[in-house]
Amino acid sequence: MTAIARSYQPPAAEADMLPRPFRVVARQQELADCVSLELAPVEGAPLGFVPGQFTMLYVHGVGEIPISISGDPSVSERLVHTIRDVGAVTGALCRLQEGARVGVRGPYGSAWPLERAFGRHLFVVAGGLGLAPLRPLVHWALANRHRLKSVALVYGTRSPDNLLFLEQLRAWAASEGLELGITVDRATADWQGRVGLVTDLLPGMLHDPAETVAMLCGPEPMMRFAAQALGSAGVPQADIHLSMERNMKCGLGWCGHCQLGPFLICRDGPVLPYAELHRLLTVWEL
Ligand SMILES: Cc1cc2nc3c(=O)[nH]c(=O)nc-3n(C[C@H](O)[C@H](O)[C@H](O)COP(=O)(O)OP(=O)(O)OC[C@H]3O[C@@H](n4cnc5c(N)ncnc54)[C@H](O)[C@@H]3O)c2cc1C
Ligand code: FES
Repeated sequence: MTAIARSYQPPAAEADMLPRPFRVVARQQELADCVSLELAPVEGAPLGFVPGQFTMLYVHGVGEIPISISGDPSVSERLVHTIRDVGAVTGALCRLQEGARVGVRGPYGSAWPLERAFGRHLFVVAGGLGLAPLRPLVHWALANRHRLKSVALVYGTRSPDNLLFLEQLRAWAASEGLELGITVDRATADWQGRVGLVTDLLPGMLHDPAETVAMLCGPEPMMRFAAQALGSAGVPQADIHLSMERNMKCGLGWCGHCQLGPFLICRDGPVLPYAELHRLLTVWEL
């Protein structure tokens, strides 16, 4: 054995690279290209998480990718992920049926800063699949409604066919705890709702900007414009939080794949304050 091999000390967290076996216990086709999987551990304790975190999901023989946790944080027995089929691993995940096994590492990453919203207005802005990582936050906000001045959710998608969690949205719209605004880029013949950008909804729904904490997830251009609009309306930059995506490999801050300027998104994010991000968001293809 060489001196180098003898002196090698495995990183303390090396075991974190080993996925834990989970089983698909329920599968919901959300949209034509989008599926929610409910996972339960094959053995051992369920995985706790805080809203905003993600896991690394491993499909045997295909690969491993980061996916946000999209379920209710008060229901710890089942870990819910909502996945859009865009490539090899997401496609394999979307094709899994009940009973299939999948590897899970995590949960990883920063959380939505829930306590900043206590005693203030919570303003949630989602674009497309960005509603998935925000759904645990909305569940938490409704469970803690008495600690918040108000809760608003603004949700935009390309078309009505792309509205995620439709039943959930209807239930939230019917509840008194949340003000919901939905808009689509392109209407279909039967659509009677709003058409336009999420930023069009902000003036009517933002009641007390200086006392508002905003949390955003969606395509980067949408988040950039919405964060700018919220800042211009008077929401403090330090109270605007964005969930960022970058390609990931380790999820543990080791490999550098997910670098965004000075940040490793797996370790420092995915949720980061706009005050730290706004310059980086203006750099093309960073
Ligand atoms: C923190 C985090 C949370 C995420 N949460 C979700 C989620 O809840 N649901 C979901 O469906 N997806 C989520 N993603 C995105 C998901 O990880 C990527 O779509 C996935 O890695 C693509 O892998 P693939 O093998 O299916 O596609 P590939 O075959 O690798 O690529 C397919 C296409 O997607 C692009 N792509 C690959 N990875 C990313 C990425 N990370 N961001 C943007 N584009 C990418 C490629 O450039 C290519 O055009 C998240 C990503 C991050 C970083
Ligand atoms: S994915 Fe390896 S450092 Fe973030």
